[in-house]
Amino acid sequence: VRDDAAVDDLVALEGFHAVKHALRFAPSLVRSVEVASPAAAAALAQRLAPDVLDLLLARAVTRPVDHPTGVRAWAGRPPADLAVLRRAGRSAPLVLLDAPRSAGNAGAVVRVAAAAGAGGVAMTGTLDPWHPTVVRGSAGLHFALPVLHVTEPDVEGPMLVLDGDGDDLRDVDLPDDAVLVVGSERAGVGPGLRARADAVLALPMRPGVSSLNLATAVAAVLYRWRLR
Ligand SMILES: C[S@@+](CC[C@H](N)C(=O)[O-])C[C@H]1O[C@@H](n2cnc3c(N)ncnc32)[C@H](O)[C@@H]1O
Repeated sequence: VRDDAAVDDLVALEGFHAVKHALRFAPSLVRSVEVASPAAAAALAQRLAPDVLDLLLARAVTRPVDHPTGVRAWAGRPPADLAVLRRAGRSAPLVLLDAPRSAGNAGAVVRVAAAAGAGGVAMTGTLDPWHPTVVRGSAGLHFALPVLHVTEPDVEGPMLVLDGDGDDLRDVDLPDDAVLVVGSERAGVGPGLRARADAVLALPMRPGVSSLNLATAVAAVLYRWRLR
């Protein structure tokens, strides 16, 4: 699922908000910022994110940019932070997506994981976590926390599988070193990770509703942890 926008491990950041987040959280990785109009880009940054104004202008090159904000950028991928997979290497839950199919869903998970202060987001399966569509879905917040691909056995810590048929999540205190295992859109959590579960937990739903979208389930669980 890689395409030309990820050639040479450079990630395309489409639009001001994605560029802003990359500049804010990992400025050294942002190689160049393409702006349709330096004056318009400066005005946008001054209004929405004055903290990144100087960083943006220092990298700005004037080019036609096919995005409503007139801003895009190219950034390097950070090296995969494998420490977050170790129990001792994290102080906030790791979200483990089991073979997600939708790049938009995966991006939305990264976005809420960054917002809630999760330890990181790992994904099994064939979707590249740094695919441009995933980065678009996260609004560039890939640069705010570790985001990486894993094979199942690589991950340590209490494995809390999220499943609509599990035990009521309200009865459980979510540990900071938890691995929150979230299933794919169709199949849910696969047998490999399910077999390793320390607990299977459900967000209660009104009768008749079969499941939540996976990104909204992650949001609810992470904020349950954050607001505890
Ligand atoms: C769209 S659901 C998958 C539905 C799938 N048909 C199934 O039977 O599991 C995607 C993932 O979101 C999470 N999820 C959805 N609703 C949930 C709920 N009420 N409680 C806990 N996790 C939920 C689960 O991890 C699930 O595997």
